[in-house]
Amino acid sequence: MSRGRTPTGSLFDPLADAYAAARPSYPVQVFTDLERIVDRSLAGADVVEVGAGTGIATRLLLDRGARVVPVEPGPGMLARLLERTPGLPVVRADGEALPFRGGVADLVCYAQSWHWVDVPVAAAEAARVLRPGGALAVWWNDVDAADLRWWQRQQERLELMSPGYRREYRSRPFADELRWTGHFSEVVTLTGRWQRRIGIDDYLTWQRSKSYVAAIGDRLEDFLDAERRTVLRAFPDGIVVEPFRTLLVIARVPPG
Ligand SMILES: C[S@@+](CC[C@H](N)C(=O)[O-])C[C@H]1O[C@@H](n2cnc3c(N)ncnc32)[C@H](O)[C@@H]1O
Repeated sequence: MSRGRTPTGSLFDPLADAYAAARPSYPVQVFTDLERIVDRSLAGADVVEVGAGTGIATRLLLDRGARVVPVEPGPGMLARLLERTPGLPVVRADGEALPFRGGVADLVCYAQSWHWVDVPVAAAEAARVLRPGGALAVWWNDVDAADLRWWQRQQERLELMSPGYRREYRSRPFADELRWTGHFSEVVTLTGRWQRRIGIDDYLTWQRSKSYVAAIGDRLEDFLDAERRTVLRAFPDGIVVEPFRTLLVIARVPPG
């Protein structure tokens, strides 16, 4: 079973309410960059979106006219997705075993979820379901605050309180990992920077929605109280300005 899974679904199922309430969305640049690199509009594209969660990226893809089939192992996350976007043909499954015929998708997308799968297995699955010339696109929002004291204090606390947590946990050579699989003829990496303003209570809900914050367990409320104090020292008006860096990696399978 992959690391993000539990016997009944996903590690994220108990976090679905906090997730739906306060997770950051994705900047429009992700989608314009994606359309530019794959040289086609998302309108009318057949998209398999894996690790769809509560549907944050799903709705953005739908807004651009894509035909999206969300894939998600967690029933709690899928329930939130369907509450917000009823009627979609969702599939409860794992990115390492996609229940689709080969050659049916123009795009396979993973928003904030590729780090949960085993790369050689999930890349082979994505390449299998893609049409010739199709693309796997994986992206993440990462907080871009390494030089900000309030964020350093948070990371220090997490490294002490959350078992196994390291702030570099997503610093992997994602593009090289995809090249090394041998399934893709072209791999491109793009980054963008943006920020959001979020009230302190929503900010703390966003913290609660993270799997490594939930892993703190019995001391979760202590962590959140300390967070509130540190963050309010940096933002006394209670509006947190949170900088993000979005990383987008696009890997294309060879044309026919
Ligand atoms: C951080 S959430 C991202 C959700 C959504 N894509 C978004 O942008 O908000 C990660 C999602 O990946 C899912 N996930 C974990 N392991 C997975 C796997 N092996 N295959 C597919 N999805 C997985 C989780 O259930 C969770 O919904």
